[in-house]
Amino acid sequence: MNKRLHIASDHAGVALKDAISRRLAQQGYEMIDHGTHSDASCDYPVFAHALCTAVEQENGRGILICGTGIGMSMAANRHAGIRAALCTTELHARLTRQHNNANVLCLGARMTGDILAQAIVDAFLDTDFEGGRHQRRLDQLSPNA
Ligand code: RB5
Repeated sequence: MNKRLHIASDHAGVALKDAISRRLAQQGYEMIDHGTHSDASCDYPVFAHALCTAVEQENGRGILICGTGIGMSMAANRHAGIRAALCTTELHARLTRQHNNANVLCLGARMTGDILAQAIVDAFLDTDFEGGRHQRRLDQLSPNA
């Protein structure tokens, strides 16, 4: 699997973003950090759109973090090529890879502790899409598809 990974957050998620980024870089991932780079208040859609544009262009993978994960997932799923999943358990992360072929993981830094968040990231990165009937369903995700 490609070890290039996009990551972005708003101010609420920046500490978790940096912790996840450092750990994955140590594991050999090439981390592309789209910001934010401080805890100064900022607007999460800016960072969601920057990351999602890059993920769409590369057919890559990404992680988005805000306070709840909800705003990031809403913004990300406006992109036609993005299947973003807000995950609060490792099981969510495994199943959204197996069934939904999610290409963006969303986390809520104010909802999910750091150790659990890291385990969710690992499950997301280590699980493959199952294809088959799940691909048929993904083909129907967009209205009028
Ligand atoms: C920022 O205060 C907060 O609204 C944001 O991080 C996120 O939780 C939005 O969905």
